[in-house]
Amino acid sequence: MCRQFFIFCILVSAIIGSEAADTCNSSIFPSTFKFGAGTSAFQIEGGWNEDGKSRSWWDWFSNSYSIYINNATGNTASDSYHQYKQDIASMVAMGLPNYRFSLSWTRILPKGLNYSINQAGVDYYNNLLDELEAAGIEPLVTIYHWDTPYALDFLGGWTNPKMVDYFVAYADIAFNLFGDRVKLWATINEPKSFCEGIPSVVVNLFPEMPIGTYEYLCGHHAILAHAKAYRLYKEKYQATQQGRVSLVLDLGYNMGLTNSTVDEDAAERKNLFEFGWFAHPIVYGDYPDIMQEVIANNSARQGFPVSRLPKFTSSEKLLVQGAYDLIMLNTYTSYMITMANYSNSPSYQNDLQTSTSQSSEWLSSGLSTFKVHPEGTRKVLKWISDTYASPEIIITENGFSDNTATLNDTERISFINGTLTNIRLSMCDDGVNVTGYFYWSLIDSMEWNSGYTVKFGLVQVDFDSENHTRTLKNSAYYYKNVIETRLVNG
Ligand SMILES: *[C@@H]1O[C@H](CO)[C@@H](O)[C@H](O)[C@H]1NC(C)=O
Ligand SMILES: *[C@@H]1O[C@H](CO)[C@@H](O)[C@H](O)[C@H]1NC(C)=O
Ligand SMILES: *[C@@H]1O[C@H](CO)[C@@H](O)[C@H](O)[C@H]1NC(C)=O
Ligand SMILES: *[C@@H]1O[C@H](CO)[C@@H](O)[C@H](O)[C@H]1NC(C)=O
Ligand SMILES: *[C@@H]1O[C@H](CO)[C@@H](O)[C@H](O)[C@H]1NC(C)=O
Ligand SMILES: *[C@@H]1O[C@H](CO)[C@@H](O)[C@H](O)[C@H]1NC(C)=O
Ligand SMILES: *[C@@H]1O[C@H](CO)[C@@H](O)[C@H](O)[C@H]1NC(C)=O
Ligand SMILES: *[C@@H]1O[C@H](CO)[C@@H](O)[C@H](O)[C@H]1NC(C)=O
Ligand SMILES: *[C@@H]1O[C@H](CO)[C@@H](O)[C@H](O)[C@H]1NC(C)=O
Ligand SMILES: *[C@@H]1O[C@H](CO)[C@@H](O)[C@H](O)[C@H]1NC(C)=O
Repeated sequence: MCRQFFIFCILVSAIIGSEAADTCNSSIFPSTFKFGAGTSAFQIEGGWNEDGKSRSWWDWFSNSYSIYINNATGNTASDSYHQYKQDIASMVAMGLPNYRFSLSWTRILPKGLNYSINQAGVDYYNNLLDELEAAGIEPLVTIYHWDTPYALDFLGGWTNPKMVDYFVAYADIAFNLFGDRVKLWATINEPKSFCEGIPSVVVNLFPEMPIGTYEYLCGHHAILAHAKAYRLYKEKYQATQQGRVSLVLDLGYNMGLTNSTVDEDAAERKNLFEFGWFAHPIVYGDYPDIMQEVIANNSARQGFPVSRLPKFTSSEKLLVQGAYDLIMLNTYTSYMITMANYSNSPSYQNDLQTSTSQSSEWLSSGLSTFKVHPEGTRKVLKWISDTYASPEIIITENGFSDNTATLNDTERISFINGTLTNIRLSMCDDGVNVTGYFYWSLIDSMEWNSGYTVKFGLVQVDFDSENHTRTLKNSAYYYKNVIETRLVNG
């Protein structure tokens, strides 16, 4: 838009204090832009039962049902519990200024509850944070990245309303112990994935799982848990720690399969079910209208006495609305969307009622559902900016996987180049306020139900060597150059 309405945009830019359109050079990133890379505890740490740590749901699941995940467990993973200094050495070698990692709930609170703190777990994160500080690397810390204490699953996990307080008590400990060194916090990573994605797979193993109800209870409590943790931070820690807090939401670019109104509406419906499910409450105080209507209608047709989507009380609406300092976005790929027929069996997927495909022209990657379409990143950023009042956005995950761990990873380099090009166009031409990009992932790791077959890393991990030796891939050197010069297409 800023190309068509040049003068208007200069005026607007001056007013909102953005980079002026005439000085926004789309091939060079501003010096304040945060480049980083990310990981999560279960995927890299290993040391699953060491030094007082108890099992998370994923430890239990991967050891009990590993046959469903390529016989993989996270028991050793990338061994970062022992090799974190190698991780930091890799970051230093590529000049990485920002690192996103997550805390393992069961390493810090083996009982899940806050009455018993495991000092060895606290020591691990203190050491990691101290080493990062010594290396001049700024942390972005995720408090919860899917590894629910198995103990709390016996109490219903995220479907239990008490989980809100259990999470807030855990977050309180994290803020208190680590907040002197952490200025960017993500409370919860991708609630859609653990509330909907994982259950929709796991229901094949456990058909009694009450799908259609589970997803929305889980999502509701995740939103409340995030909001209460956010408010607690503002009241108890903001003045002394001066940090910023959000939750991480994921969205691919959903485009209509054709440009028909029906397909374009279907794509918008999917955006609202996926991202709006969480973003609408924190920005506007309630679920998107379409979710409220569709789920209420479907629940009634299916014989439920009330909607399967819980309602926020008026005080909860006040609690959740505005509980974010910026938007944190994970985005990987694009989808083509059309309406599907109504199905009477209750589930989030049937409420969503769309079907999804990907273009055969998009390059394949290690994860079959993550075909390459970097233009989608720009579209998704614009949709979020337009729909949620032009927030500041940090991309907390985006990356390319292969199945080989090759060091000569030219496809990953083109993927990052294509994505960064689109991010910069989004900033300069669409006026979207993107302030950071965290590539996923720093190192090859345990990729959930794909096990070790899918590699996202800038850094290769030799899973067969004694010390899980790290080696920088060519993409790490490419990224190093981007970080140094701030130039894309360089
Ligand atoms: C982006 O957001 C940050 C934080 O709110 C703000 O300081 C900055 O001015 C914004 N930049 C633009 C270009 O709007
Ligand atoms: C953008 O910046 C690059 C690198 O500094 C420079 O080569 C190029 O000429 C600039 N483009 C414009 C339009 O100013
Ligand atoms: C997993 O282990 C089972 C039993 O040992 C074996 O039959 C199967 O081939 C293995 N699958 C993979 C993907 O390695
Ligand atoms: C545990 O959490 C409760 C609130 O649920 C709080 O009152 C108590 O101080 C916490 N204890 C510790 C050790 O943080
Ligand atoms: C869809 O695209 C075609 C070809 O560009 C165009 O003729 C048609 O008017 C478009 N339809 C709608 C609903 O925008
Ligand atoms: C919900 O049902 C009402 C009454 O049957 C109908 O008017 C409305 O269009 C439905 N809404 C949706 C989103 O399906
Ligand atoms: C949807 O239902 C209609 C009418 O029953 C049927 O003709 C059509 O094939 C169905 N479409 C899909 C994608 O199942
Ligand atoms: C790396 O891969 C590219 C493209 O596949 C190829 O052209 C190049 O020769 C390879 N380089 C090395 C050192 O193998
Ligand atoms: C692994 O690390 C240990 C301790 O740092 C070291 O003594 C040993 O030589 C390393 N082994 C290899 C194969 O690098
Ligand atoms: C990045 O993409 C541009 C085209 O958008 C291309 O000219 C350039 O060669 C690419 N750079 C790398 C390192 O792939």
